[in-house]
Amino acid sequence: MYPDKALILEKLTAKPFRRRIVCTTETDSTNTLAKKLACEGAISGTVVIAARQTNGRGRNGRTWYSDDEGSLCMSFFTRPETDLRIMPAYSMCLANAVVAAMRAFGADCKIKWPNDIIAGGKKLCGILSEGSISGYHALLICGIGVNVNTHFAKSSMDYTSVSPDADFSYEQAATSLFDLTGKRHVREYVAAQILNETAKAFSELASGGLSRQAEVYAQNSCVLGHEVNVYAPDGVYSGKACGFDSLGRIVVRTEQGERIFDSGDVSLRLIDFRS
Ligand code: BTN
Repeated sequence: MYPDKALILEKLTAKPFRRRIVCTTETDSTNTLAKKLACEGAISGTVVIAARQTNGRGRNGRTWYSDDEGSLCMSFFTRPETDLRIMPAYSMCLANAVVAAMRAFGADCKIKWPNDIIAGGKKLCGILSEGSISGYHALLICGIGVNVNTHFAKSSMDYTSVSPDADFSYEQAATSLFDLTGKRHVREYVAAQILNETAKAFSELASGGLSRQAEVYAQNSCVLGHEVNVYAPDGVYSGKACGFDSLGRIVVRTEQGERIFDSGDVSLRLIDFRS
């Protein structure tokens, strides 16, 4: 029965994630459960996978919808022991790791800043990373939602995250590994692949590989060099996405000059070439 821990362990080579894997049929949100376990003192690297989420959470207060038969809903937490100033870079590494994992299953995908994984203009995976620092101790909760076996072409609902805020309607068309590759995939194997890639990326980051991970992130980006709108917490800004700094913040050249954003969403702007 899904999720099957034995199947995950069959493919999971990353030692930090093999120590504790919690598989459950239902929870409100795997991120919330992972946080609860972390607060109770569970070991760093604990992984949570649920067949169903009753209150799946997306970024910026959005709801994350998943399909019990086709989605992968997974979270894990880590207590990074690196310089706390590089904490935001973990999110960038996680996006790189998810892209590498999706490519291993045949999906040609890219990152839409900050960490939406997009294929053919549609959302394949969402990432919700929640960090907290108390004193010298950091906790990072990483949640990954992957559309694995959902057949969106047949589905009436073609989006995975919706804003509760009426002023900012955000609906992202969705795709899945099934839609992209034409075959079903074992969700436990997808989970193991993501964890294996994440362990590699995090270990590179912890051993001084920040700039290489930033380079990989730039190569994986689908917005770099394009005209974008940035929906930042304090307003909407338009300009050309001209780079990312080493922590994964986006640099946009606006008419008022260069601005760096550490949170928000971007959309590609459609330029009217007739004008
Ligand atoms: C987004 O794109 O807005 C982020 C979506 C993140 C969804 C995953 S599913 C597993 C984990 N548990 C949650 O409640 N959210 C994340």
